[in-house]
Amino acid sequence: MRSEPTFWVRDVPVYGDVILAPMAGFSDVPYRALCTAYGSAMQYTEFVPADALQGKRNPLWRRLDKRPGEYPVVFQIFGNDARMILRAAQNIESLGPDIIDINMGCSTRKVSGRGAGVGMMRRPELVAETFRLLTTHLSVPVTGKIRLGWDEDERNFLEIGRIMEDNGAALAALHGRTRAQKYNEAADWDAIAELKQAVSIPVLGNGDVRVPADIDWMLAYTGCDGVMVGRAAVGNPWIFSRQDRAALPFTEITAAIRLHLQEMLAYYGRPHGLVLFRKHLRRYFSGYALKAIMQQMFQTEDEAEFEELLVEAETAVLNHT
Ligand SMILES: Cc1cc2nc3c(=O)[nH]c(=O)nc-3n(C[C@H](O)[C@H](O)[C@H](O)COP(=O)(O)O)c2cc1C
Repeated sequence: MRSEPTFWVRDVPVYGDVILAPMAGFSDVPYRALCTAYGSAMQYTEFVPADALQGKRNPLWRRLDKRPGEYPVVFQIFGNDARMILRAAQNIESLGPDIIDINMGCSTRKVSGRGAGVGMMRRPELVAETFRLLTTHLSVPVTGKIRLGWDEDERNFLEIGRIMEDNGAALAALHGRTRAQKYNEAADWDAIAELKQAVSIPVLGNGDVRVPADIDWMLAYTGCDGVMVGRAAVGNPWIFSRQDRAALPFTEITAAIRLHLQEMLAYYGRPHGLVLFRKHLRRYFSGYALKAIMQQMFQTEDEAEFEELLVEAETAVLNHT
């Protein structure tokens, strides 16, 4: 019998407290499949602009693909206009998301400069209107991912978190940095603890979880309901089962590489899946002296040759240790 859920997103149960963060270019169907297999408890898509979801389908819709049986899946969208965000959400609801999330954290100039992503945090009334509209008109729960605020002078995450809750949001995820900090400086875990105290909806903490010990440290330090892992999960799905990648035999790494590559080929086809896999391979091999073999693996579009080189890498690591 399955144990009790760790927390609920309104009526959606979440079993587990470590979650793959949404990452454009990474959290696609194949990587989510892998992370789920290793224990990620909830799966966010890459973010999709609301204006691309107004009319007929275009390639960005593919970001909202999901595997059969994948649950719970969170479709993440962003925009700067509440009615347009609502229309986008209504257009994608029939694709079967379990949850729809509003990105209010993206710090790139292209997004935040237009008042979307973290730019939304500068307009509390827009946040209120967006959540009010979506939670009134959608049947799935609506959640949001925020930062601390625009910059040090505008750290309004508590205000925004309360507005989200008051307007029906079912969960808030907080990346403990401002827009100005981008990905620099340490994430502020005190702020995550403050938000958890301030609202009664579940809170996910995010920022600087690098090794398994950080997960339990963040949970204990902040009281948050779950921990979201971004960069440290790339090339490292073991973080979701609280296994330290550095302590694993290399054959565990290559087993994940093979599994991940199969998922990539099944989803993207041949040889595209192999070509797209290169950015992941770099991360799986980090920490190992395999540069020359890796360069050869980057050249090939042939799976059999890729596999031969992978075996060569295994032999090289084995002989080195
Ligand atoms: C390559 C990359 C792409 C990202 N794309 C998204 C995105 O689509 N949506 C989102 O909410 N956050 C996105 N983020 C932010 C992460 O979800 C996360 O908040 C951030 O990386 C901090 O967590 P970490 O310290 O565990 O990496 C992205 C981050 C990176 C590095």
